Amino acid sequence: MKIAVLGSTGSIGTQTLQVVRELNSRQESSCNPHVDIIALAAGSNVELLAEQAIEFNVSILSVKTPEDALKLKNIFKEQCKAYNPQIFYGEEGLINVATSPVMLLVTAIVGMIGLKPTLAAIDKGIDIALANKETLVAAGDIVMKRAKEKNVKILPVDSEHSAIFQALNGVNSRDRSALKKIILTASGGPFRGMSFESLEKITPQEAMQHPTWNMGNKITIDSATLMNKGLEVIEAMHLFDVKPNEIEVVVHPQSIVHSAVMYKDGSVIAQMGNPDMKVPIQLALTYPYRADSYTKELDLAEIGSLTFERPDFGAFKCLAHAFFAAEHGGTLPAVMNGANETAVGLFLNNKIGFNDIQYNVIKVMQEHMVSNECPFLKEPSLDDVLIADKWARTFILNETIGGLK
Ligand SMILES: NC(=O)c1ccc[n+]([C@@H]2O[C@H](COP(=O)([O-])OP(=O)(O)OC[C@H]3O[C@@H](n4cnc5c(N)ncnc54)[C@H](OP(=O)(O)O)[C@@H]3O)[C@@H](O)[C@H]2O)c1
Repeated sequence: MKIAVLGSTGSIGTQTLQVVRELNSRQESSCNPHVDIIALAAGSNVELLAEQAIEFNVSILSVKTPEDALKLKNIFKEQCKAYNPQIFYGEEGLINVATSPVMLLVTAIVGMIGLKPTLAAIDKGIDIALANKETLVAAGDIVMKRAKEKNVKILPVDSEHSAIFQALNGVNSRDRSALKKIILTASGGPFRGMSFESLEKITPQEAMQHPTWNMGNKITIDSATLMNKGLEVIEAMHLFDVKPNEIEVVVHPQSIVHSAVMYKDGSVIAQMGNPDMKVPIQLALTYPYRADSYTKELDLAEIGSLTFERPDFGAFKCLAHAFFAAEHGGTLPAVMNGANETAVGLFLNNKIGFNDIQYNVIKVMQEHMVSNECPFLKEPSLDDVLIADKWARTFILNETIGGLK
């Protein structure tokens, strides 16, 4: 099976390549396909991309800037003269990787920048293993409609959505009327149980300490504010065609139950496992089959107890506002996402405080609903979504920050 990966140097990207190593180390079968990596895209971690490219003999590569591309060329000149892949950069490079001759594109890139390459791959009929949730949050209606038209599968990589996908497949019928609700679990992040006021002084270093998952910077901060769960609510709406009031978020600190589905007869089907992203990544690569895995086997007796509680919407206001964005739809989720990406970047650079992420996102969302400059649109085109995203980012950079530090 031929694949391409956007974001190969990140947390999901490197784990995807590890899954490929593991699949290729075992006897090939329909459950355990041999995987050829045809194209890889990264940002600025050129050294790691070069290692990956040489190891997998990749023919198409892309990096963030022309300088990164030159650096990459020089590494190959020094280390591996015979190797001569095509090297691209920027948005065009991402699109070239996404539309390379493959069956499956793994979108492990972070942020809204994944949107255009994902749509380009869908247009070419390439199935998507989707980790890049910002794409579905900002433009879920457009992406899912396009995927349906092109008969393209969107296979979830996010552990929660993979769990729901599996729980929905776990019954004979996928009859939508049998589904009562989706139970989306959340670890609660490092600040579970803290009040909104006590979150004020949290530093980026503290927010980067996630209790159960080891992930990239942006999603780790999103997990600390619970915006990650809010983004996942919107992602679930689009992936599984459900309404916000059919999704319940439950905090489950052990991260063993990855999510569940409740049917109208009261039955709840959950998917469980040790927290290891390689499991949902592998399933997206081998679907509809399951391959062996090197992941630690779940031992329920060793775990002893699993606990569940309701989220604190007062302390973690982003989650409440994500439900608001989910209910309104249109351009609002794109605005929320653009504002959040920008605010998280500023927090990581010590420009704003932890709670300022929440203040800023809420302020931009409220402004959008009454704005003449960037009015809320219920059924936006792709251009409308891109404009709303840009407006939200600019608004935060120009207006909100000034009042904070
Ligand atoms: N990590 C997880 O466990 C997890 C779980 C579920 C879902 N997700 C989702 O998966 C996505 C990736 O998360 P992650 O944690 O893997 O992020 P990450 O570790 O920060 O990796 C992000 C990747 O995107 C690349 N990238 C960033 N900006 C780029 C740009 N402008 N052009 C080209 N490449 C760019 C980075 O390249 P360089 O590093 O080379 O700059 C890196 O390869 C996110 O949408 C996240 O929400 C992650």
